[in-house]
Amino acid sequence: MKLIISKEELVSVISGLKSTNTTIGFVPTMGALHRGHLSLVTESVKQNHYTVASIFVNPTQFNNPNDLKNYPRMLDHDLKALKQSGCDIVFAPETNDIYDTEEIKRPFEFDFKGLDKVMEGKFRPNHFNGVVHIVSKLFELVRPDRAYFGEKDFQQLAIIRLMTDSYDMPVEIVSCPIVREESGLAMSSRNMLLSEHQRDVASHIYAVLKESLLFVPNTPIYELKQCTIAAIEQKPELKVEYFEIVNGHTLQDVEKWEDADYIVGCVTVYCGNVRLIDNICYKKL
Ligand code: PAF
Repeated sequence: MKLIISKEELVSVISGLKSTNTTIGFVPTMGALHRGHLSLVTESVKQNHYTVASIFVNPTQFNNPNDLKNYPRMLDHDLKALKQSGCDIVFAPETNDIYDTEEIKRPFEFDFKGLDKVMEGKFRPNHFNGVVHIVSKLFELVRPDRAYFGEKDFQQLAIIRLMTDSYDMPVEIVSCPIVREESGLAMSSRNMLLSEHQRDVASHIYAVLKESLLFVPNTPIYELKQCTIAAIEQKPELKVEYFEIVNGHTLQDVEKWEDADYIVGCVTVYCGNVRLIDNICYKKL
């Protein structure tokens, strides 16, 4: 496995690969890798000749400076895990090689067609501007045939698909299922910020989401939302920021189960100071 820090070296290695008849799979990450990330790498290794992963804690997608400061960084651990998963190239650039001093200060402009106004977008202003900015830059450098994203970040996935359509990018976006700890807690780099007790409590989130499936389609959506929030908050350590039941394509609220062919429940919960997200598919035809 090759570790590349400079943009120029990456561009030259990619040009070499592109001149042969090979496919490139790409897994963008911010490091602090867990089994969820590695499942994306494994999928890419299966489907492509070469797999490139990036490790870059992208400052423009953090709306909370403390969150950026506290984001776990563990390059040695990540490199070892990527190597074991069969990754071929790791791109781990420095911030000033990616952004110039001016562009890092202002939100990247993109027509989100409203996808940034709901759920995460309501609570994390400009977060998705930062995500689109970095992913578009990385796609330009890596020029992947396929790029892999986890379904845990459901809204991010929808926005990345919109971005590739809007910019007509020749890349297939491959979505991969949420990987969970044995307790059901969705894998996340933030889980390592939880105490052992909090980790235990946080597994209640998925237990409630799973149970909520039993009430579909016989319970009105509005009622299911209220009951699900109340059930999660039965644990005093958990505070729901939002729980939305949305059309899986448009991310807009759905009022009745028959109103869409793809319906997903998306939740964000604080466990102490740690912000956790998860989702569950209620309907997919
Ligand atoms: O999902 C993430 O880890 C990040 O949002 C991504 C896609 C690597 C962009 O920084």
